[in-house]
Amino acid sequence: MDVKPLVVENLTIHYYTLEGIVKAVRNVSFSVEKGESVCLVGESGSGKSTIGLAIVGALPGNARIVSGRILVNGVDVLRLSQKELEKIRGREVSIIFQDPAASFNPLFTIGQILSDVIKYKLNVKDKNELRKLALSALRMVGLPDPERIYNSYPHELSGGMLQRAAIAVALSTKPSVLVADEPTTMLDVTLQAQILDLLQDLRRKLGLALVFITHNLGVAAAICDKILVIYAGSMVEYGPVDEVLTSPLHPYTKRLLECVPRSSARVGRLKYIPGSLPDLRKLPPGCVFAPRCSEVMEVCKSVEPRIVEVKPGHMVACHKYSR
Ligand SMILES: Nc1ncnc2c1ncn2[C@@H]1O[C@H](COP(=O)(O)OP(=O)(O)O)[C@@H](O)[C@H]1O
Ligand SMILES: [Mg+2]
Repeated sequence: MDVKPLVVENLTIHYYTLEGIVKAVRNVSFSVEKGESVCLVGESGSGKSTIGLAIVGALPGNARIVSGRILVNGVDVLRLSQKELEKIRGREVSIIFQDPAASFNPLFTIGQILSDVIKYKLNVKDKNELRKLALSALRMVGLPDPERIYNSYPHELSGGMLQRAAIAVALSTKPSVLVADEPTTMLDVTLQAQILDLLQDLRRKLGLALVFITHNLGVAAAICDKILVIYAGSMVEYGPVDEVLTSPLHPYTKRLLECVPRSSARVGRLKYIPGSLPDLRKLPPGCVFAPRCSEVMEVCKSVEPRIVEVKPGHMVACHKYSR
């Protein structure tokens, strides 16, 4: 049997703060096959980045993984020592962020940054070999004139080019898993489409397992095979993209879909979901979405729904579907 590049099982993550314990992620499970892309979708503050950072082993110091497992190519990365983790981070799993400028040291050229990553992560020492690998990474992401980019400083590149360079850095070590955390959110629409195309292309060519994080269901529809909808740190729905988009089960997913502007219909004003995320330090009993749910029932206010498989591969956590 093939080992999956990424399996996340019952992941629960808390942040410790002076104001209390933030229950950022609760019992989240999903997996990604080779060449597959899974989107984590939810409003800002729902715990998407926390999951992404946990996968690449880069959570901030005040975060605690309370329970769960993260298997990268069958290895539980949460059980590894710092030294063993260092070998996996940036090598078997990589991440790109919303703001590519923030991930580049402004004092080094793109070529120096790329060469450094390849040198340490792949243990390549030969200068010519390093340069060759760095240039081929820049070529792979469709950057014109790789030689010039190689010698450029981050500030000399446009946002779109810099995001391509960040993808080159992330993929230069040939990881099997790439986490892309809102990688197009800061780009204008045309560039967004180009970066999405590039990621699709690379995913297919390299057989990457892609975890794509977005607050935008429209973007998710364009790029992923499976969608995991998360609300206040909990998974509310998980399934194949067509299923989730055409027959959404959870009231939250339905509301999110209504918020996606459609070019065909002229909407007078953008829809939004009334209310806001609950305080993650004092979660209400029952279903976390109940206070905002238009289909709320009595049971929702006291009993937390379990996630159940309603159709093959399509799961939902909602009392409307519990048996
Ligand atoms: N370092 C931190 N310390 C305390 N709380 C944090 C920290 N980072 C994120 N959070 C909180 O955890 C929750 C989830 O955040 P995040 O994973 O960034 O969500 P998303 O990426 O979906 O916007 C939010 O309530 C956020 O304020
Ligand atoms: Mg985020």
